[in-house]
Amino acid sequence: MDEEAIRKQKEAFSKMKVVLEFAKQLVKPNIKILDIAESIEKKIFEIGAKPAFPVNVGINEIAAHYTPSLDDQTVVKEGDMVKVDIGLHVDGYISDCAFTVFVGKESHPLIDTARRAVEEAKKVLKENVKIREISEVIETTVTSSGFNVIRNLTGHFLDRYVVHGISIPNVKNSIEIPIPKGQAIAIEVFVTNGSGWVKESSEVQIFQFKEDKGSRTREGRKIIEIAKKEFEGLPFAKRWLKNIPRSKLELALKELVERGCIIEYPVLKEESKGLVAQWEESFIIE
Ligand code: CO
Repeated sequence: MDEEAIRKQKEAFSKMKVVLEFAKQLVKPNIKILDIAESIEKKIFEIGAKPAFPVNVGINEIAAHYTPSLDDQTVVKEGDMVKVDIGLHVDGYISDCAFTVFVGKESHPLIDTARRAVEEAKKVLKENVKIREISEVIETTVTSSGFNVIRNLTGHFLDRYVVHGISIPNVKNSIEIPIPKGQAIAIEVFVTNGSGWVKESSEVQIFQFKEDKGSRTREGRKIIEIAKKEFEGLPFAKRWLKNIPRSKLELALKELVERGCIIEYPVLKEESKGLVAQWEESFIIE
């Protein structure tokens, strides 16, 4: 990365600090998760950044890819394990961070473990550290606490306008790829008291532009345009398509998925309904 790129990358990181501070005080009993997501996204725009993906709010066994719909009435309750995953970007340079709140309580061993795994991983970050070295520290930290990592969710490289670059697994592996100086990465750990595996559910709230293969309908063509230009090819929420008539939205999205114009990110749940805590921070290798 050149100096200008590093400057923008660091700007994304410092804006994320402001957003995280704002987001953490929102998660209280009786708030609607729709209000959590929308007010964080509003804050991102207010400070001169853009969302890199819709704010994810996952409760209990819901691990990832849940963002509320416009009519979502879900309210946060005391004792819920609420994960908030936030992505923002400055000119395509992304920061991706997540935290978990055990609502109404100080903390929870699952949360402490996820956070500690990120802390331990941070200690081994240096120029040319191998992916397997990071993975090993994370898995060891989690299993020594008596919990499981979610094996099919990973950290990842952050590239310009690409949220998920090369994966950084949270289980031991033999990936010898070194992480070069100037590379931005997200260390992202999910810890559970369940079996440690997520599966896709039938609900989809998040989509992403893939390729313009046209559409039979005006709404479809409009969604392609918005996904490319306004959302800049990054993941977007169904809820963000406010200008598409609600009655036509579902069918239009379905057609675009079938044609291969957009991809969908189904909601991911822990398969044994275990509780899931998530901690994620973004770094640049220096
Ligand atoms: Co991430």
